[in-house]
Amino acid sequence: MSSSAAASSFLAIFYILLTFFIRGSISATYSNPNHQLSVDFYSKTCPQLEQLVSSSTAQQFQDSPVSGPATIRLFFHDCFVEVGCDASILLSSNPGSGVPAEKDAHDNKPLAVEAFNTIEKAKALVESKCPGVVSCADILAIAARDFVHLAGGPYYAVKKGRRDGQVSLASRVKDNLPRANSTVDQLLNLFASKGLSQADLVALSGAHTIGFSHCNQFGSRLYNYRGTKKPDPYIDRRLLKALQMSCPHRGGNKDVVVPFDVNTPFTFDHMYYGNLEAKMGLLTTDQALFLDPRTRPMVQALGKDKTQFFQAFSMGMEKMGSIGVKLGTEGEVRRYCSKRL
Ligand code: HEM
Repeated sequence: MSSSAAASSFLAIFYILLTFFIRGSISATYSNPNHQLSVDFYSKTCPQLEQLVSSSTAQQFQDSPVSGPATIRLFFHDCFVEVGCDASILLSSNPGSGVPAEKDAHDNKPLAVEAFNTIEKAKALVESKCPGVVSCADILAIAARDFVHLAGGPYYAVKKGRRDGQVSLASRVKDNLPRANSTVDQLLNLFASKGLSQADLVALSGAHTIGFSHCNQFGSRLYNYRGTKKPDPYIDRRLLKALQMSCPHRGGNKDVVVPFDVNTPFTFDHMYYGNLEAKMGLLTTDQALFLDPRTRPMVQALGKDKTQFFQAFSMGMEKMGSIGVKLGTEGEVRRYCSKRL
């Protein structure tokens, strides 16, 4: 294909996707020597658990494809905040207390409602067969894996045994999540504080091979990069034009979302890394992984080798999924994921 034909097809795909996807709204690891996460944690108490969750996620994937990326992100935001993967993000604020819960924090507002609905539906199904046994935190971990796989990504075993947290504070969110314009140093420090390595950072960022971002998350790259009043020089010119049209400087629709991976936004592949090499990363943090000499070699390696990406991603998800987990008699097993017992 000639380069101008390639450019036209690229722009055509981009606009088709945009038309369809303007949405309404879219530490240390705790370890208790007596209890550990394990793959067969529910083998006696709810042996059909994984089938139950996967029947629910498969239905949701069909009915509402945005549920996939949204649920994977929900899992990430749960694990990084207070104090780990304990479904604290699913708790609703208690109106009487005046203290907002994590899900109502500013940084969690863009989390799509479809993700919360997915977990509530899966939980209801699991409760109907195995009442009071399976935590919301485990259902979220399994659902995230299912969606990775349904989108074409790896199927990895999920260790279970997490208990649900009883504390959820909006005030704990901001400092525990990366920002779209964080530096690589800031990302590395934050990930290290959760027990995750540089390799985990690069591999887990590959989740941005699917899903969408609102314009405000990268708007400064288009118009005023680091106060220069010019666009970010490390952004492909054609992509820049397309993004500027979708996300006008002033007066744009704040609900517009654009795909992270223009070509295959619903396919979990290793295109994310190739895009970074082609200056087609969407967020400052995405592109920075290619620009930084510490992370570039791994970006290049994963861009060449899908199998290596899948292995590194699966390992990263297992590590992320064990951050600060509550085990044994800690926490609780909720009946409804949005309400404490
Ligand atoms: C490395 C630092 C990271 C930063 C700065 C970051 C930031 C963001 C931002 C700003 C969005 C767009 C939100 C919106 O406008 O709605 C987003 C979306 C997303 N993120 Fe990340 N993220 C990071 C790491 C991760 C990790 C580790 C995962 C999961 C393993 C993840 C999974 C996702 C997914 C799947 C989406 C798409 C959500 C959707 O379409 O609903 N991100 N991220």
